[in-house]
Amino acid sequence: MGKPTVLVTREIPRDGIALLEEHFTVETNADDHPYTPEELARRAAGKDALVTLLTDKITDALLSACPTLKIVANVAVGYDNIDVPAARKRGVYVTNTPGVLTDATADFAFTLLLAATRRIGEADRFVRAGRFDGWQMMGFHGGDIAGRTLGIAGFGRIGQAVAQRARGFGLHVIYSDERPVSAEIENAFGARYVDKTTLVRESDFLSLHVPYLPTTHHYLSTAEFAAMKHSAYIVNTSRGPVVDEAALAHALKTGEIRGAGLDVFEREPSVHPDLIGLDNVTLAPHIASATVETRKKMALIAAENVVAALHGSVPPNSLEH
Ligand code: GLV
Repeated sequence: MGKPTVLVTREIPRDGIALLEEHFTVETNADDHPYTPEELARRAAGKDALVTLLTDKITDALLSACPTLKIVANVAVGYDNIDVPAARKRGVYVTNTPGVLTDATADFAFTLLLAATRRIGEADRFVRAGRFDGWQMMGFHGGDIAGRTLGIAGFGRIGQAVAQRARGFGLHVIYSDERPVSAEIENAFGARYVDKTTLVRESDFLSLHVPYLPTTHHYLSTAEFAAMKHSAYIVNTSRGPVVDEAALAHALKTGEIRGAGLDVFEREPSVHPDLIGLDNVTLAPHIASATVETRKKMALIAAENVVAALHGSVPPNSLEH
């Protein structure tokens, strides 16, 4: 019997591939082009494992055409690109990469919070355009951070890591989630549980850290922007469709809220055209976990999960098993 076969759908750090190649026959995607659904189905057929990225849609139909599959190892903490119940029904493990990207993602949420509030994107474009012709007292006024209220929607690992950073900036932290965390965790982060209505109304900065689920689709939309302070900023490093992008563009354009920092978009890689023309939004191409060290760890974790599953063990990051 030949070695088990693994498809790695996009380029990932070499360490992950090297670990897989110690054990399996590995098919990679050398030029890193996103597979169409047809190409993905063709290449996945007959494989024992898939190492996927969040740009791959793993549907029930795809799973049913791959009866030899034992695991789908997503190189991401989010897994809304995978039909997990369908995989489970077929006895296929699904794994993600929690933990290792917590700090990088929380750092990036703060990067966007600061960049949006202090108008870094706009300032960078101004200098590059040769428009910096002398210091001014009245140029580029942003907002203060210390003493303000940071609202965190979704108080899991990443939300809590954002709260930890907020302490150093002198922010008051409120959070919302399906239920409160323990008093011990609240005290550790100086965070207070509130309902969503209060979170939206009281936040000077609102940072999103919820998973994308039917219940979090357009978590922020027209009604929420209308209820927010005119001086408020939102930061999204979770998933694009958590925010109604058209409603956000309108809120930014009309001054309903003051600014936003976005790492994710509703229809990636497309960005709502109105956002592109606005100076009060800082845009990034879904890079919150993109540090050398973090991406390497994510690739290794995915590979370790594949090794475990194909050697007959429950993989360490198995979801819903
Ligand atoms: C990135 O968005 C991830 O879910 O890891």
